Amino acid sequence: MPDTARIIIDGKEYEYPIITGTENEKAIDTRNLRSDTGHITFDEGFGNTGSCLSDITFIDGEKGILRYRGYPIEQLAKHSSFISVAYLIIYGELPSAAQRENWRENIRREASLHTGMNSMFDGYPTRSHPMAILSAMLNSLGCYYPHMASNNRQQDVEHFDNAATLLISKVRTIAAMSYRTEKGLPYVWPRSDLRYTANFLHMMFSEPYNTYEPDEDTVEALDLFLLLHADHEQNCSTSTVRMVASSGANLFASVSAGVSGLWGPLHGGANAAVVKMLMEIERDGDDGTRFIQAAKEGKARLMGFGHRVYKNYDPRAKILGRAVERVLANMGRKDPLLDIARRLEQEAINDPYFVDRKLYPNVDFYSGLLLRAIGIPLDMFTVMFAIGRMPGWLAHWREVAIAPKQRIYRPRQIYTGQAKRDIEEV
Ligand code: ACO
Repeated sequence: MPDTARIIIDGKEYEYPIITGTENEKAIDTRNLRSDTGHITFDEGFGNTGSCLSDITFIDGEKGILRYRGYPIEQLAKHSSFISVAYLIIYGELPSAAQRENWRENIRREASLHTGMNSMFDGYPTRSHPMAILSAMLNSLGCYYPHMASNNRQQDVEHFDNAATLLISKVRTIAAMSYRTEKGLPYVWPRSDLRYTANFLHMMFSEPYNTYEPDEDTVEALDLFLLLHADHEQNCSTSTVRMVASSGANLFASVSAGVSGLWGPLHGGANAAVVKMLMEIERDGDDGTRFIQAAKEGKARLMGFGHRVYKNYDPRAKILGRAVERVLANMGRKDPLLDIARRLEQEAINDPYFVDRKLYPNVDFYSGLLLRAIGIPLDMFTVMFAIGRMPGWLAHWREVAIAPKQRIYRPRQIYTGQAKRDIEEV
């Protein structure tokens, strides 16, 4: 196999090395292309561009494979927990029993927020979207820990372990408080006797006069949701985190930008968009057939379908689809939206429009239905994704921050505007 690629421009040949990844992925190393040839590559949407080398997550979109640090997602989903997987993603190995307890304890200790932040929450009007509050508050959190958010790279890296523990813990408290701000409800403080996921549900749903006691199935299902969202290599929000980090910005500023990247309906916002779509289909008395036709005609988009990388089933969608069935069965409930989703899936995977374009259910197709089954309100769906994705953002920030060669992310462009012109004097 050749280990170089040759490019011929105006009859002149240039040779570029081929980089090979652990799983035999190939890339043409074009880092010297512009200085050699005066040309750049053009790849709108970056579908063919590797922006970094990374040790964290491997995806084979053609085969529907996802691994965190080498471990298949199916095995982690079956045998691990969100907190252990967060450790794995950040530090590269699953924690030993002692490391896990220590990690849990440190996270537990960081659950509460500085009371100064209360007045910030109070300043938002009710009905503010929790994603807007979450992004702003994560950046503001850095103001309470200036030594961890110094924008001095060496200093921020030295404090990374503390900052990461703090962010994994507090993102959940901020998320719950964002929801309560939106609804105009009093804030509920974390409990020291509850584990990560149960504590979040307590802060969301307990009242001063009524303690919410989540059942085990609900906690387990939400923990699985978080675990499945923990990282996904160079998606829009993670690339945003890496881009912001590459300028030397601190961890808090970088993950805050990640939340904004996640919010859009083509990315993390899709989990809420799927459920809204299913509700509309139900309201219109459609069994899904009309909607599929509209999607094929370009009049609608089948939310939760299609992916830039997966050209096969997203393995997370399979796990989540089964989890929704299990949770509803355990609760003795049915969800008509799940029936519609299953019908849409059956129609789409047998329809040439979707088959030819390799459009399959992605993580968001069933994740919203799972959140709905366990009682998470629609506006919080993408916030839940952000809590789950926090370990990935932290690990990617660290990868950028400790890279031996620090280089700001700065793509080029092809200018298509006006040619030079002069102001007309009157
Ligand atoms: N419904 C109908 N048609 C679709 C869909 C869809 N969900 N997704 C892609 N297509 C069609 C496009 O119209 C296009 O058709 P064409 O070739 O005839 O023009 C073709 O499939 C390729 O689509 P692109 O938009 O070029 O694919 P891209 O890789 O840019 O987009 C994306 C991927 C954004 C995920 C897209 O499939 C989509 O919008 N899906 C719905 C939103 C969604 O579920 N997002 C969550 C993704 S997972 C995540 O971020 C966590």
